[in-house]
Amino acid sequence: MTGVKAILFEDGKLHILDQTKLPLSEEYIEITTKEDIFEAIREMKVRGAPAIGVAAACGLYVSVKNFDENDIPRFKQKVRAVSKYIGTSRPTAVNLFWALRRMEERLTGFSGSVSEAKAVLKTEAQDIKEEDEQACLDMGKHGLTLLRPGMGILTHCNAGALAAARYGTCLSPIYLGTGQGYDFKVFADETRPALQGARLTAWELSKAGVDVTLICDNMASVVMKKGWIDAVLVGCDRMAANGDGANKIGTSAVAILAKEYGIPFYMFVPTSTIDMETETGENISIELRDGKEVSHMWYEKPMAPENIKVYNPSFDVTDNRYITAIITEKGVVYPPYKDNIRRLLEK
Ligand code: MRU
Repeated sequence: MTGVKAILFEDGKLHILDQTKLPLSEEYIEITTKEDIFEAIREMKVRGAPAIGVAAACGLYVSVKNFDENDIPRFKQKVRAVSKYIGTSRPTAVNLFWALRRMEERLTGFSGSVSEAKAVLKTEAQDIKEEDEQACLDMGKHGLTLLRPGMGILTHCNAGALAAARYGTCLSPIYLGTGQGYDFKVFADETRPALQGARLTAWELSKAGVDVTLICDNMASVVMKKGWIDAVLVGCDRMAANGDGANKIGTSAVAILAKEYGIPFYMFVPTSTIDMETETGENISIELRDGKEVSHMWYEKPMAPENIKVYNPSFDVTDNRYITAIITEKGVVYPPYKDNIRRLLEK
């Protein structure tokens, strides 16, 4: 089992593992202000949908805990303003808005003192973190029922311990299975342009003793054709009510390839990532990031003509018809997704 922790929230203090520094160095940074947490999320020091939600909740608490304010309506107003600001850090992962809304709702109708309100926010942030840990563990157990010892598994981006409070979403069954001697052979797409596969997935899996092979994104078809892949496991940033799922750019291409080769494609989606207010994938807001991530970021010298136009969408949407099953903490969901997701959430 992995011991990697992306977020530490202890004694009301928040530290996050700066993922922009991985795999070269493991550095935790303290978050104390709304600007700190905004920047950490925006710059992907903390990233991955569940981790963003947990970090935002804890970040909201640490940003307001020292407010010198005794008037509860004014305190609540300030909390809402900070929450709104943190919510503008990234647009696609719905966990960000889900967690901030949960924090704000705890103060709806609250009429105690400001210091009591601060304690309520601290407890809620802690609950959000602990619930995410449990959800990841449960997704791992459900996911493992779909896998067999010795399987070849392809994953894209990083939906591991670094992307959640603990264990990860789609890497959770890999950790659980490895602990039971399943001997998986994992292939990690490097995941251009931010290289979450190379820098993060390869790092955390190899650290945990999992057999992992790094490939470029454009090699997925080859390893599938060779028969080395028995299942594709990916995470999700926002799932619409009809089962369309936004995840890291390139995920939909992997899903289409998997269908061609008859390989099951499993999307791991905690219920905090399901957005019933978004009807289909068409309505999911896709983050556009700085073109320099494509033309400059990992090169010693710029590898594109100066001022070349770059299109850099950070996510894409996988049509529900390419998803074999959705794995949530409440169980595995099969098509038809529109009805079955609604039923699952009603459970
Ligand atoms: O841009 P990122 O690194 O935040 O994107 C992360 C992903 O796309 C993950 O696959 C997704 O958030 C699920 S994490 C459990």
